[in-house]
Amino acid sequence: MVTTLDAVLTRCRSSPPNILATLQQVQAAFGFVPLEHVPRIAAHLGVTDADVRGVISFYHDLRTSPPGRHIIRYCLGDSCRAKHTERALTALTRRLRCDFGETTTDGRFTLTKVYCLGHCALSPTMMIGEETYAQLTPRSVITALQNHP
Ligand code: FES
Repeated sequence: MVTTLDAVLTRCRSSPPNILATLQQVQAAFGFVPLEHVPRIAAHLGVTDADVRGVISFYHDLRTSPPGRHIIRYCLGDSCRAKHTERALTALTRRLRCDFGETTTDGRFTLTKVYCLGHCALSPTMMIGEETYAQLTPRSVITALQNHP
C-alpha cells in the first residue's frame, strides 16, 4: 500500500499544531522527512516553513534523506561511556566508513547515536534494527554487522 503525504497529514491534528509529532508520523510513513514536503506540512499545521525546518534540525532522530536498510543505534550514554565504548565505536566507524547521521555508501547501514538503550548493566550496547548487542568489543561490533546483510 502506498502512503501519501495527504493520508499522513489527515491523521495529524493541526490544532493545536504539533510539529514534532507530525514529523514523526511523516518519517514513520516514508522512512525520512522529504524536505520538499515541508511547505505542505507547514501549511497543514498553520506554521511557517522555518518553524518546521527548525524542528527538523533540532531533533537528530529526524532524517531528511532515506536511511540505510539497517539502522544502527549506538549508545553513548554514561554507563556505556564508563565501559569504554569508544573502542568498539572506533572499530565500527572504521568498518562502516561513516559517522553518526550518515549512511554507508552501499546503503546498508545508517549510524545513529542514542543516550541509553535501557541495557546499562550490559554496557556498552547498540541495536541494529530490533536486535540488541551488548558488552560490545571492537571484534563483536564487526561480527554483529555480518548478521545484517
Ligand atoms: S547508557 Fe548505554 S544502555 Fe544505558
